[in-house]
Amino acid sequence: MGLRRTKQGAQDRQYTADIHQGPGPSDLAVELRGVRRQYGRGSSAVHALRGIDLALPRASFTAVMGPSGSGKSTFLQCAAGLDRPTEGSVRLGGTEITGMSENRLTELRRTRLGFVFQAFNLLPSLTVEQNVVLPMRLAGQRTGSARSRHAAAEMLTRVGLGDKGARRPGQLSGGQQQRVAVARALVTRPDVVFADEPTGALDTTTAAEILALLRHAVDSLGATVVMVTHDPAAAAYADRVLFLADGAIADSLPRAGAAQIAARMTALTAHTSAHTSAHTSARAGAAA
Ligand SMILES: Nc1ncnc2c1ncn2[C@@H]1O[C@H](COP(=O)(O)OP(=O)(O)OP(=O)(O)O)[C@@H](O)[C@H]1O
Ligand SMILES: [Mg+2]
Repeated sequence: MGLRRTKQGAQDRQYTADIHQGPGPSDLAVELRGVRRQYGRGSSAVHALRGIDLALPRASFTAVMGPSGSGKSTFLQCAAGLDRPTEGSVRLGGTEITGMSENRLTELRRTRLGFVFQAFNLLPSLTVEQNVVLPMRLAGQRTGSARSRHAAAEMLTRVGLGDKGARRPGQLSGGQQQRVAVARALVTRPDVVFADEPTGALDTTTAAEILALLRHAVDSLGATVVMVTHDPAAAAYADRVLFLADGAIADSLPRAGAAQIAARMTALTAHTSAHTSAHTSARAGAAA
């Protein structure tokens, strides 16, 4: 625990340094300060996030890894304004979203953010093309407009589904649905894309295509991508990998190869399970 706290301290300094060295806080796409998220209260409370401090520059690609239950999805939802932290602040593009009204938050999400959910969240009654057009429609562009449909068709082609626009999600494989979700997230050219395991249901080749597309959004369109993944090969596309354990940032790596990321993940998991079993046996001891 002592080690982790020291590491965390070093990391906080690093993130703070990022802010002060950069041209200014408005060049940060995503900024979290002291973010905590607790589910429930009292002895049954779950501390999903225990104080996240982090600053992500614009046009950066960040991967978030960590064991199941470490808080990755909760982190993404809080950073994206889909969930409200119990404590702390979240800024997107320099705008404080904590305490923002639901209407303004919805507007911000529709116009500037893109999401790929862990469960794809496609609307089953709409066709694939209508699903992809939807964010543009919600952002106020006319659905039927040739431009929206052209953008949707182009994005579907980019994810390899140019011929599937007329199908319903239920008529697609899991991996194809996931690609529709990626197309839908990118079609409005959002400033920030939040993706929760966007390659989880894909074969290696298709995953590589989706990751290249996300990388392209960062390098050529200046988007900022925050991607949760369990796959070190996917994380290797990112500029930085953050490792979550038990609701806190336990480690980070600048751009690294899959093998190095996998090794770091193994070390983290070993540390976490050692910590958990020590905790469990201490509790067992106390109960005895
Ligand atoms: N609505 C909820 N109510 C109570 N606890 C929750 C809720 N959502 C998540 N949790 C708990 O918060 C913790 C973090 O969950 P989260 O979904 O963020 O994990 P994760 O890292 O995304 O895991 P996975 O890799 O399995 O998707 C877990 O212990 C989970 O059980
Ligand atoms: Mg999750």
